[in-house]
Amino acid sequence: MLGFSRSSDRNLIPCNLNTIIKNTITLLGDRFLREVEVQFTPADPPLPEVPASPDFIQQILLNFIFNAAEASTGHKHIILSVTQSAQLPATIALKPIAAASYLFVAAKDFGSGIAPEVMPRIFEPFFTTKSLSTRRGTGLGLSMVYELAQQMDCGLSVQSTPGQGSTFTLIIPVRDLPGISEKSHEYT
Ligand SMILES: Nc1ncnc2c1ncn2[C@@H]1O[C@H](COP(=O)(O)OP(=O)(O)OP(=O)(O)O)[C@@H](O)[C@H]1O
Ligand SMILES: [Mg+2]
Repeated sequence: MLGFSRSSDRNLIPCNLNTIIKNTITLLGDRFLREVEVQFTPADPPLPEVPASPDFIQQILLNFIFNAAEASTGHKHIILSVTQSAQLPATIALKPIAAASYLFVAAKDFGSGIAPEVMPRIFEPFFTTKSLSTRRGTGLGLSMVYELAQQMDCGLSVQSTPGQGSTFTLIIPVRDLPGISEKSHEYT
């Protein structure tokens, strides 16, 4: 029955992105937040709830945030945001399932940026530019992000300018799923 697993089987529940992002920042802890300025202004007007896995979204955001911090030097500054749009970006790393509109959860940094020759490889398992001598860097972070996004029918996009910084965006389709609680119609 491969390929039969639909979104409704995957424990996707109606999610409020403002809440998930705030909880993720709390999870980073005071020590991290003293070293890295993580800025987030909750979306206003309120966004629709979307079917997703809060754990998956948190994992994805943590990977974006740690990568952003590791790419930054000096004053480390990361801006998280969530917006709604019907328009998909021109360049996309993973296409989301088609929907009338999407939530864009973005993590923007002002770090090293990504060289054009490196960009096509960043989601590959074990691809890393972090040398063994400088500690971590298994290169599995973004391949996990890709997998988790795909499991939620979400998309991914990356914009980067070498020397100026990068923005990683999770694209969540706004939709109702059959079998999901009627709460998904609520706007909070
Ligand atoms: N915000 C970013 N700015 C610049 N380069 C990035 C950024 N995010 C990812 N990259 C590049 O993509 C590569 C792959 O990222 P990924 O998270 O998969 O692995 P990693 O961070 O090197 O190792 P791990 O996450 O396993 O500790 C990184 O090594 C880096 O070159
Ligand atoms: Mg990483």
